[in-house]
Amino acid sequence: MKNTLFQKDIISTEMFTRDDIALIFECADEMRTVVEKSGGNDILRGKVLAALFYEPSSRTFASFITAMQRLGGGIIPLNGMKHTSVAKGETLEDTVGVFEQFSDVIVIRHPESGAAAAAARASSHPVINAGDGPHEHPTQALLDVYTIHQHFRSIDDLTITLVGDLLYGRTVHSLMNLLFLYHPKTIVLVSPSQLKMPAEYNREAKKHAIAIHETDSLDSVVGETDVLYVTRVQKERFDDLSIYKTLKHRFVIGRQTMKLLKKDAVLMHPLPRVGEIASEVDDDTRSIYLSEQVKNGVYVRMALLSLLVKK
Ligand code: NCD
Repeated sequence: MKNTLFQKDIISTEMFTRDDIALIFECADEMRTVVEKSGGNDILRGKVLAALFYEPSSRTFASFITAMQRLGGGIIPLNGMKHTSVAKGETLEDTVGVFEQFSDVIVIRHPESGAAAAAARASSHPVINAGDGPHEHPTQALLDVYTIHQHFRSIDDLTITLVGDLLYGRTVHSLMNLLFLYHPKTIVLVSPSQLKMPAEYNREAKKHAIAIHETDSLDSVVGETDVLYVTRVQKERFDDLSIYKTLKHRFVIGRQTMKLLKKDAVLMHPLPRVGEIASEVDDDTRSIYLSEQVKNGVYVRMALLSLLVKK
C-alpha cells in the first residue's frame, strides 16, 4: 500500500481515512511478526524520537520508547517536562524548536487542548499527539480499534459501549472519530449526566448515520454489548474535587457485570484504572486491558513511527 502518512502530524483522529487505518493495521501486523520473531529490526537506525511529556504517563510514554527502540532508533525520553527549561518559563514553541534540531519525530503530551497542534506548527518534523488535555489521544484510539478489529475481524455491526468520563476522557473522543469510519450497529454512551460525551460527537455520529444510545444505566445495556470500554473519571480536570469524589465510582465493573456481559464480548480500558474495574475480573478471558491492548500499543506505535519517518 502507498504510504499516505509519510511526514504527517498525528494530532486528531479526524485526519484518518479508512485506507490510512488499513495501512496502519497492515504495518502493525508486520511489526507484531517482527517482534515475535526477533524482538525488532533496524529500519529506523539513525533516526531519533523526542518524547516531550508535560503530563504524567507510564504506558504511552514507555510504549513509544520501546517502539522506537525495537525499530533501532534513538530516543530523547523526557517524562517530566516540568523539570526542564520549561520551569524557567520557556515557551512550548521554543522547546519544540530546539528539540526538532535533535530529532526526526516528536511525541508530545500536554495538559492543554490544542498544544499538540501548536507544537506541530512550530516543528518541521512530524509531531504525534500523545494526549492534549481533554481533547484527543489518537494513538490510544488507533490501538483500541486495532485490538477490536483483531478480535472481531471487523468493526461493522458491533455494539460498542463507552463507559465513564466521556466529557474529559480524551481516548474516547479519538475513538469516536475512528468508529465513524465504520458501520457499528450502535455506540452506547454510559456516563453520569455531568460527564456526557460532548454534543459535537453525537452530531457527527448522526451525519454518519450511526445510532447513538445515551444512558446512565450500565446494567440495562451491558447484555447487548460486544465491546465494553471503560474509562477513568479524569480527576485532574476537576476544579472541585468533591464533585469528582461523587462521580469516580459511579460505574464499577465487577463479577456481577461480567455475568451480564456476552460470552464473546471484550472488556477494555486505556489504563490507568483507579477502581472502575475490580481486579476480581482480571482473569476473565474477556478482560484484555492488561494484555492485548497494551501489547498492541507497541505494534501500532511502531507502525506509525515507521510510516511517518520512512518513505
Ligand atoms: C489515558 C490518557 O492519558 O488519556 N491513559 C493512557 O494514555 N493510556 C487514559 C487516562 O489517563 O485515564
